Amino acid sequence: CEIPLDYKKLTEKPFAIFGRTGMGKSILCKIVCNSILSKDVSSVFIFDMHSEYGTFSKTDNTPGLNFFFPEKVEMFTLDPGNREAKPFIIDSKNIRPEDIIIAFQDLSPPMIDALYIINRGRKNDLISEIKNATIEKYPNAHPSALQALQRRIMRLNRFGFVMEGNDTFNQMITLIKNGKSIVLDFGKYGRDAMAYLFLANIIARRLYNEYSENDYPHLVLFLEEAHKFLAPGIASYTIFDRLARETRKFNLILALIDQRPSRIDEEVGSQLANRLILSMKEPSDVESALAGVPDKTLWKDIVVSIPARTLLLLGDAIRVPTVVDIMDYNNMRTRLNKFNIKDIDEIAKQSGKIFG
Ligand SMILES: Nc1ncnc2c1ncn2[C@@H]1O[C@H](COP(=O)(O)OP(=O)(O)O)[C@@H](O)[C@H]1O
Ligand SMILES: [Mg+2]
Repeated sequence: CEIPLDYKKLTEKPFAIFGRTGMGKSILCKIVCNSILSKDVSSVFIFDMHSEYGTFSKTDNTPGLNFFFPEKVEMFTLDPGNREAKPFIIDSKNIRPEDIIIAFQDLSPPMIDALYIINRGRKNDLISEIKNATIEKYPNAHPSALQALQRRIMRLNRFGFVMEGNDTFNQMITLIKNGKSIVLDFGKYGRDAMAYLFLANIIARRLYNEYSENDYPHLVLFLEEAHKFLAPGIASYTIFDRLARETRKFNLILALIDQRPSRIDEEVGSQLANRLILSMKEPSDVESALAGVPDKTLWKDIVVSIPARTLLLLGDAIRVPTVVDIMDYNNMRTRLNKFNIKDIDEIAKQSGKIFG
C-alpha cells in the first residue's frame, strides 16, 4: 500500500493531517483519498477550494480522484463556468444563524443576539429578513448591532450559488446514498474564505442530519482549515465539533486538515484516533498536534526535525508509530495500477479455486 496504514481502521474514527504550509498536506490528502477509494473502505467528500481534486489539479496539473476513479466520483461546482461538473445550489431558506456566524468569524455578541432575535421572529428566509429588518419590528435587537449586521450581510450577495426555491443538495445526497464520492469544486469562489466557511457549515449540518436518520454508506468528510471551524468559542456553532467527538459507530467520519493545530479546541484535538503529522516548527502547534498521545516528548523532537514530505503516523490504524517518506505523487498511477493488477490476480486465484 502507498502509506502503511490500515485504511479500514483509519476511516472508522475521526483523524487528522497536520503540518506547516507547503509540507505536502494536500498531496497527502489526495494519496489518502485514492487509497481509501482503491481499497473500497469508504467514500469521501472533498470541499475542493482550489480545484485540485477533480480530473486534473488547477494548481499543479496532477491527476485527481475523478481521473483515477471516474465511476466512483461525482463532481459538483459552485461556478457556472465549470461545465464538467453538476451545478451546486442551495436554497436561501436552508440558511441558519450559525452559518452566518461561522462565515464572518467575528460578529460581536450583540450582533449574534440580533441574528437570533430575527431568526426567532422571521417568516421569510433569514437573509431577506435581516435585510428588511427594522427596529420597530425587532425592538429587542440592539439598534446599532442590527445596522451593523445588515451592512455585513450584504457581503453574501456575491454568492451566486444561493438561490430562492432551488436546491441541489438532495441530488447530491442521492448520489451519496448510492455510494458515490463527492468533489465539490469552488471554482471562482476558491479564494473566498467566507464562501468556504459558509458552505462547509451548511453542508456538514445537512449531512449530519441525513446520517443521523438514515443508514447511509460510510463517508469521510475532509475539512481543510479545520481550526476556522473548531477554534474555542466558535466550535459550538458548528456540527464539526460534534462530528469530531463522535465515538459511537457513525458512518460520517471527519478528517481534519490543518496547519495550525494549536488553534483547534483542545477537547477535539485530544480525541483523534489517528494523526498523520508532517513537519511543524511552532512549539504550540507541535504540542497540540500531539495532544493526548503517550510519550509526547519523544515525538516532538521528530516533528520539528523531519523534512517536507515525511510523515509521522500515530494511532490505532498503524501497529507501531512510524516515520515514512511520502511517495512521489507522480507515481500514483503506477501504484494504483499495480494494486489493481494484484487484485485481478486475487480474483483469478479465487476463480481457479471455484472452477478447479
Ligand atoms: N508526495 C508528493 N509528491 C510530489 N509532489 C509533492 C508531494 N508532496 C508535496 N509535493 C509538492 O509540494 C507542493 C506543496 O504541497 P502541498 O500538498 O500543496 O502542501 P500543503 O498543502 O501542506 O501546503 C505541491 O504543489 C507539490 O508540487
Ligand atoms: Mg494545502
